[in-house]
Amino acid sequence: MWNYPKFLAHRGGGKLAPENTIAGLRCGFAHGFRAVEFDVMLARDGVPVVMHDPYLGRTVAGSGNVFDYDAAELVAMDAGNWFGAGFRGETVPLFTQVVQFCKDHGIWMNIEIKPAPGFEEQTGRVVASLTRALFGLEIAQDNPRRVPLLSSFSPVALAAAMQAAPDLPRALLLDRLEQGWQDQAGALRALAIHTNHKHLTQALAQQVKDAGYGLFCYTVNDAARAREILGWGVDAFCTDRIDLIGPDFA
Ligand code: G3P
Ligand code: MG
Repeated sequence: MWNYPKFLAHRGGGKLAPENTIAGLRCGFAHGFRAVEFDVMLARDGVPVVMHDPYLGRTVAGSGNVFDYDAAELVAMDAGNWFGAGFRGETVPLFTQVVQFCKDHGIWMNIEIKPAPGFEEQTGRVVASLTRALFGLEIAQDNPRRVPLLSSFSPVALAAAMQAAPDLPRALLLDRLEQGWQDQAGALRALAIHTNHKHLTQALAQQVKDAGYGLFCYTVNDAARAREILGWGVDAFCTDRIDLIGPDFA
């Protein structure tokens, strides 16, 4: 069952601003998005930061792994210049900064737990515990439009999240819906399946809906494809094309 927004800006601002930055969130917000997906992993000191890659070099100048640096070092690093000179000075945000921005702007969050290899359990536990602490009031109010949804490709991270914060909703990310997905989702008491739309068929979408799960797709950047999968019962998706598939998309 899906009680959440339908259209999410992928990594904050899709492809119109540097991913997983406050500038990205501002861009998504300016395009009317009130729901967002972003990625979270741990710095060396165990503090969660918002970043997609577990290494530096693509969106952040430098070398090595995210877990080679403390959060204080990461938040001083430029995460905007790679995208364009106009974004120079945009830094790696702390998870708590992103949550605060979203809360201040009324943006619903799909928090993707993105553990670096070997950090699955710790990342799931830390992100879920912190999210629970930050959303105690909203959880008590039991308002799905205000409580974030945790998702991950890592069943280990999701299991740790379930243990640390059983009352936070979880979604299992699967590139493909292969045999056994229902057992995995059931064991994690997942509320939704998040899957790659490229491998989704109408029959698979039906399977997910028949099993009672919410169905979310990533990353849908084509309007015709968006209409097709919505017609199959897909509940929601994230997009990089926030200019093309806006919150009023129908
Ligand atoms: O959460 C859906 C989507 O973001 C998964 O892929 O690589 O963009 O994090 P990725
Ligand atoms: Mg993601």
